[in-house]
Amino acid sequence: MSLLQVEHLTRSFGGQPALKDISFTVGKGDSLGIIGRSGAGKSTLLRCLCGLDRPQSGRILLEGQDLAVLPESQIIPLRRRIGLVFQHFNLLTSRTVAANVALPLEIAGIPRDQRVKRVAELLDLVGLADHANKYPAMLSGGQKQRVGIARALAAQPALLLCDEATSALDPETTESILALLNSINRELGLTIVFITHEMDVVRALAKHVLVLDHGRIIARGLPADILEETSLQAALPPNMERSPQEGSHAVVRLTVDQNLIMAPLLQNVQEMCQTQASLLRVIPAEDAEYQVLDVLLQVGDVSVATMNFLQQNCHAAEVVGYVPAHS
Ligand SMILES: Nc1ncnc2c1ncn2[C@@H]1O[C@H](COP(=O)(O)OP(=O)(O)OP(=O)(O)O)[C@@H](O)[C@H]1O
Ligand SMILES: [Mg+2]
Repeated sequence: MSLLQVEHLTRSFGGQPALKDISFTVGKGDSLGIIGRSGAGKSTLLRCLCGLDRPQSGRILLEGQDLAVLPESQIIPLRRRIGLVFQHFNLLTSRTVAANVALPLEIAGIPRDQRVKRVAELLDLVGLADHANKYPAMLSGGQKQRVGIARALAAQPALLLCDEATSALDPETTESILALLNSINRELGLTIVFITHEMDVVRALAKHVLVLDHGRIIARGLPADILEETSLQAALPPNMERSPQEGSHAVVRLTVDQNLIMAPLLQNVQEMCQTQASLLRVIPAEDAEYQVLDVLLQVGDVSVATMNFLQQNCHAAEVVGYVPAHS
């Protein structure tokens, strides 16, 4: 049974589509990472998911209720089922840490003694028990984000939405915030949908991944199917060789229809060449009808049969080089 079901969502701004026919489901306890380049539509999608923005068409079913069409008065209680974590924390500077976390509970009309108890539990959970009476200005970025996470969890949401939650943090702090979100997902079983442009964040937190590009979903699946090892990705293109080396893997560049969903193509390629095929990156195509994809094939050399298959199923296909399997 899915917690969130998104069907055929579209959203345009002044006639310019930002989301085109977006459909996906999120199961209870899942952790879905949504990645994509700047302008892909990630924030627009997230705003629709929390009822802050309305799509032109489509359905957004959260626990069976449609956020896309509910009147504003009924969206407010449904919005309490969703916790939001922002890149820039959005804390109230004139309130203490404890009072920031208590805010959603005050709005929900929770009595004071229950609020105090819940805030203490939450600050304990995020590791800020000793900072309850500080003001946001006295905290580090990572601590501010912990307050943001505690506040998002205060009203016991069914879904946590994170918009670039770690983008303003240094790598070490990012790691600790990701560990916290991971334990919230895995230990408390809270469903998380997060957007990011960082592959490392997806790798650390996602159970499933969607790739958005130009307002469309161009790939979806398990992180391992969508991403390749960081080392490999970092190695491209500096380590790229023109011919196969001992133990190297091939990178093929495919020009495909803009509307193509990657997963079935990758699946077919995998079956065809009996090897892992994974999307390395999406390159902007000069012609808007097409998209260009670099795909890693875990084969030493690409067979004639595989190239024939790719050329028949894509607008164009070429081997761009070979990279070491491990670096
Ligand atoms: N309120 C708005 N008014 C007009 N256009 C908008 C508005 N919000 C978003 N857009 C447009 O919709 C498209 C998607 O924007 P969105 O902010 O969702 O991208 P994003 O994937 O979150 O990008 P980034 O990684 O830079 O945050 C962009 O072309 C953007 O200019
Ligand atoms: Mg954004």
